[in-house]
Amino acid sequence: MKKPEAANASFVSTASEVPFWMTDIGENEIATVTETMAAKSFSMGAVTAKMEAEIAKQLDVPHVLCTTSGSMALMMGLMAVGVGPGDEVIVPTRTFIATAHAASLLGARVVLVDSRSDSPNMDVAEAAKKITPRTKAIMPVHLNGRVCDMATLRALAEKHGLAVVEDACQGMFSRGPDGFQGTLGDCGCFSFGMVKLVSTGQGGAIVTRDKDLYEKLAAMRNHGVADVVSHTYLTTGHNFKFNDLLASIGLWQVRRGPEKASHVNAIYKKYRKGIEGLPFIELAPVDVDNGEVALWTEAISEERDALMAFLAGEGIQTRKFIPCVHTAPHFDSGERFPNSEHFNRTGFNLPCGPDLPLEYVDRTIEALKKYAKA
Ligand SMILES: Cc1ncc(COP(=O)(O)O)c(C=O)c1O
Repeated sequence: MKKPEAANASFVSTASEVPFWMTDIGENEIATVTETMAAKSFSMGAVTAKMEAEIAKQLDVPHVLCTTSGSMALMMGLMAVGVGPGDEVIVPTRTFIATAHAASLLGARVVLVDSRSDSPNMDVAEAAKKITPRTKAIMPVHLNGRVCDMATLRALAEKHGLAVVEDACQGMFSRGPDGFQGTLGDCGCFSFGMVKLVSTGQGGAIVTRDKDLYEKLAAMRNHGVADVVSHTYLTTGHNFKFNDLLASIGLWQVRRGPEKASHVNAIYKKYRKGIEGLPFIELAPVDVDNGEVALWTEAISEERDALMAFLAGEGIQTRKFIPCVHTAPHFDSGERFPNSEHFNRTGFNLPCGPDLPLEYVDRTIEALKKYAKA
């Protein structure tokens, strides 16, 4: 059986033969990194521009800017739409805390919203109840490639004059009825971390259809400088630049994006069929038959902790869901979020990833069946 690559080493416990995630780094990435190194100039330049053009083409969006991380893309997006002290920003509590930190680090108040009962995504009807005269922006998070209800959300934003900054860090290449996630709001953000479909180790991107917003974001990425020739200061900013070494990896990762998306969806579908009839586990829904991409195969079980321990004993690594934002003391106002808490208590990720062999999925399904008989 194929062993995990060295590139995945930090995600592989020595006791596990089946890692919870296997990424896919190919020969092209290695060759292009070598070429870029040989050129002896690898700050943000031509290769980053190529990667941006490739993202624009694949996601059918006119403006793309790569940056240091998904977290930074979120912060740039909020800065560009004018979020600052005194503003409120609506954020789901079931997300990676980066979404909330992007708003709070700009001095805004984070207003948390529960998930739907049938999906870990934000309940848009609940979000509507949290709008006040101070609300400046709303951040739909397309968790694990599940599209947030963008039609309702955009109508809501229009009615109340709110900006929509999409967190599509887990949703690259995933589509809903209106198009690719991340391309449906004022701007959308992606992450290129190790457990993402496109991985450069660290990195991210922000995309938009709005030319003015793009020009502002582009300047913001380089301390507000409109262009390096005139050196005119257009806006505030910082050093949010990407670099060509990471883009040398990312360019190929983006090119292979559709292929990777199809592999992770094949994994999801194999699990879906394999666990049919097992009463103690179900998959968190992702509409893989209609364009959504299940970045991870997420499972829900009331017996989660026992199941994870059993699978670990079988050499199979799993990961619990990341905790809700309101579990962090600095975001805990005492408010309860029952649906999100349910997912937090019962959710975990089964082994998956763009380079995970399907035999590992079979092996995990067999172990789940063994648990059923234990
Ligand atoms: C929903 C969500 N938002 C934001 C981020 C932050 O992205 P990055 O790790 O690239 O900063 C992540 C990363 O996992 C994420 O899952």
